[in-house]
Amino acid sequence: MPPKRVAIITSSTRTPRLNPTITKYVHDALDTDPTIPTRKATSQNQTPDTDPRHIILSIIDLQAQSLPLYDESVIPAGLPPADPTPHYSKAHTRAWSAVVREYDAFIFVTPQYNWSIPASLKNALDYLYYEWKGKPAAIVSYGSRGGGKAADHLKGVLSGLRMRVVGTTVGLPVKFTGLPVGDHEGEELVEIDERDLKGWKDAGVERMLRNMGMELVCELDKDL
Ligand SMILES: Cc1cc2nc3c(=O)[nH]c(=O)nc-3n(C[C@H](O)[C@H](O)[C@H](O)COP(=O)(O)O)c2cc1C
Repeated sequence: MPPKRVAIITSSTRTPRLNPTITKYVHDALDTDPTIPTRKATSQNQTPDTDPRHIILSIIDLQAQSLPLYDESVIPAGLPPADPTPHYSKAHTRAWSAVVREYDAFIFVTPQYNWSIPASLKNALDYLYYEWKGKPAAIVSYGSRGGGKAADHLKGVLSGLRMRVVGTTVGLPVKFTGLPVGDHEGEELVEIDERDLKGWKDAGVERMLRNMGMELVCELDKDL
């Protein structure tokens, strides 16, 4: 069996935004943590990693999916569970379904917008059902106080989708990291302010991310 595929989801879609920077921080923290069994790059001559207890981390950016505001005419939970994809009425839903079906577990990285998650994330979740159902999920939130209210709302939504949400949720307080000002045609990654990084380190965020990652891996192992 191949390694399990874990998608880290960038949830906000405006430009500029902080979400790609926070997503990269989460990705790199997990990918470089020696206790998380991420698949290591193999050279051309080596046999490919086929250990199903290993994970491959990828990033899905909802901005790149360009989903319109929900316009699907069928109800996702009413479709054939084993193969819902061809039954959607819209090409963009079929494309999104095919993307999500590629993954075994998800880490949602979300900002807090007015005490909840951004509409872009709720919209992307609502489009599908069986593609999410039963899969392990983890939550990383951020906001001036860590985005805990967004995390709580998201946990409720993911539970409604019957996802297996792991116990450790990580909240990242963002007090000093600022977005670039001015006109931004393309998007540039924002550096995380050293004072925020230190605050996270002092609060044990690296250990919390490790716990969250290991809980996700344990959930995936239950499927073997
Ligand atoms: C519409 C909107 C609502 C927000 N509401 C909150 C909030 O309730 N609590 C909070 O801590 N920050 C809030 N913020 C600040 C965001 O957490 C901060 O701007 C963050 O950078 C947003 O993520 P993004 O840049 O990836 O969109 C809000 C920002 C926006 C744009």
